[in-house]
Amino acid sequence: MFRTWLRSTMIMCAVVAAAILVLAAFYPDPMVVALAAAVAFLGLGIYAPRHPNKNLVPPQPEANTRPVLPEAARLLLEALDDPVVICDLTGRVVLANRTSRVLVGSDAERKHISAVLRYPEVLECVERVLSGGDAESIAFTILVPVERHYQARIAQAKTGEATAGFVLLQFHDLTSMRRAEEMRADFVANASHELRTPLAAVSGFIDTLRGHARNDTDARERFLEIMSVETGRMRRLIDDLLSLTRIELNEHNPPMGEVDLVAVVRDAAAVLGPLAEVDRIQISIEQSAPLWVVGDRDELTQVFQNLVHNAIKYGREGGTVRVRFGTSPGAGRANPPQVFASVQDEGEGIAREAIPRLTERFYRVDIKRSRERGGTGLGLAIVKHILNRHNGRLQIDSVVGQGSTFAVYLPSASVQALPVQDRKAV
Ligand SMILES: Nc1ncnc2c1ncn2[C@@H]1O[C@H](COP(=O)(O)OP(=O)(O)OP(=O)(O)O)[C@@H](O)[C@H]1O
Ligand SMILES: [Mg+2]
Repeated sequence: MFRTWLRSTMIMCAVVAAAILVLAAFYPDPMVVALAAAVAFLGLGIYAPRHPNKNLVPPQPEANTRPVLPEAARLLLEALDDPVVICDLTGRVVLANRTSRVLVGSDAERKHISAVLRYPEVLECVERVLSGGDAESIAFTILVPVERHYQARIAQAKTGEATAGFVLLQFHDLTSMRRAEEMRADFVANASHELRTPLAAVSGFIDTLRGHARNDTDARERFLEIMSVETGRMRRLIDDLLSLTRIELNEHNPPMGEVDLVAVVRDAAAVLGPLAEVDRIQISIEQSAPLWVVGDRDELTQVFQNLVHNAIKYGREGGTVRVRFGTSPGAGRANPPQVFASVQDEGEGIAREAIPRLTERFYRVDIKRSRERGGTGLGLAIVKHILNRHNGRLQIDSVVGQGSTFAVYLPSASVQALPVQDRKAV
């Protein structure tokens, strides 16, 4: 509106100036020429400031203009799994993606970074980068809601001299890597401790036999017996460690052959018959039609030998170990039909809080009892890795004072799980 008025005024001034100049041609009076010039300048004066040459004078941003993050960039950053926070150069949060909420809360956008990020060491880096410093990286730990470790990288978004006007805070979650490192260190510490104890016993007895027990026949027999037990323990530990490593290396290769789970369990239990007899334990195996699974016979035998052996070791003397079989129908493609074999004992049971830890390497509820029975604490860790490879799972149910049931579930080899008919305990 205003512009149209200006343009009309300017055109009118030009027309009036031209008319006066024409008049001046007939009446050459300096006053008339001066009047024409004045009117022309007035027109130019109105026009000139409204039409700056765009190529010569770049538009000046308003004082409060902030860079805007394009919507596509926003959507991409939102989809990232790693936490990302973007600030403008005043430190105001422009974007905090979904995964960054654990660090900056759920409504960080438009607030200053120092109001939402509560880790002083990271904020100091942000401060330096905001004032033009180079990119920085820093590792830090948060303690709530759970302890997590992060690596943060803070950098201005720029290439050479061209800057986007943003500072990017990228966070990388190091928690699982740290845990794996800790577990590896614990594993080495535990394995060497387990080996050192019997080794110390054996070398102690060697010294005794060379020293004051040199001529004591009774003591020599006793000591040799203990040495034989201890070296047996070391051999078992090394065998189990090698077995665990071999299974872990192979874990991503699913087994190929088909085996009958019922036959595997029967064979595993038969080997342990003499050990059960020592504790006057009866092993009762339910009768069942064959249950075919895709699996490695030796590895599945190892699983059930450990479960039945545990049921004997930690079961009730004079009691019964019951083995049962069954099938569970699938539910769609994601849950194919499964078969299971469970081993139940009448022992002291396991406290609820200990159950999730049973498959950890070297974890034992009662270390003394396990050692007395020659255990290495690796049996259930091996079971877990074998079942991972077989796409199976272990379910542990226990009632303190009554006993425990360890059930192994495996995908059925046939599409239709075989029905179990005419069951009766033997
Ligand atoms: N049936 C069970 N009843 C009670 N506790 C059990 C039973 N099975 C396992 N546990 C507990 O779980 C621990 C870990 O079992 P795991 O089989 O891994 O080791 P282990 O039997 O001690 O030694 P290994 O199997 O290497 O000879 C055992 O030490 C025992 O404390
Ligand atoms: Mg065991």
